[in-house]
Amino acid sequence: MSIRTNYEKWYESDDYYWGLEPGKFLDELIRLCPPSVGNAVLDIGCGEGKDAVYMAEKGYDVTAFDLTENGIRKTIALAENRNVAIDAYVDDINTFETGKQFDIIYSTGTVQYLFEENKKAFFEKIRQITKPDGIVFINVFVEKPFLELPPDWDKEEKMWRSGELFTYFADWKTERIDEVIFEDRSGGVPHFHCMDTIVCRKVDC
Ligand SMILES: C[S@@+](CC[C@H](N)C(=O)[O-])C[C@H]1O[C@@H](n2cnc3c(N)ncnc32)[C@H](O)[C@@H]1O
Repeated sequence: MSIRTNYEKWYESDDYYWGLEPGKFLDELIRLCPPSVGNAVLDIGCGEGKDAVYMAEKGYDVTAFDLTENGIRKTIALAENRNVAIDAYVDDINTFETGKQFDIIYSTGTVQYLFEENKKAFFEKIRQITKPDGIVFINVFVEKPFLELPPDWDKEEKMWRSGELFTYFADWKTERIDEVIFEDRSGGVPHFHCMDTIVCRKVDC
């Protein structure tokens, strides 16, 4: 197996690299699209599964994938440990296919792994596999000339241009758009990120 992301190594340990606290954005998503029978969530780049498992605990039907075998192994273990069912598997954001549509599509900290040539097809796919009235949440790291590359930046990650993410959903209903600079301590070294976030709804035109 060729290792394309350092996360494969960082997820080897029994400790959870990202901890077990669910992402701070999830309650916003739950408010915008509350769980009801059969409501489906896709977590793209689920890491070690803390967010996917939290959504399963809330009652959603969760599908989750990540490029790392260790991340998926830990996602499945966490789901078993919490007594929830989840469909988690190894896949690549650049090439993934799914036969399903989802009420919520969620991807945090992962879209910068899309190769430039795959961006257009990826967003066309996301638009197709979102159910009518469904919600998309995506964030991405963006380049700022006054910020250094983070110390745990992966060789396949590419910074996006400020605002670029928003252009793919210009005709959807915006629930939230923002660009924030924040301090992070992942990898043990304090550093800053700039991140663009979009939360938007697929509405009939
Ligand atoms: C910053 S982490 C975010 C993980 C998770 N979303 C979270 O918040 O805990 C980025 C994730 O993207 C995954 N990743 C890297 N390249 C990928 C690819 N080509 N396809 C899918 N996931 C990928 C990494 O393995 C890692 O889990």
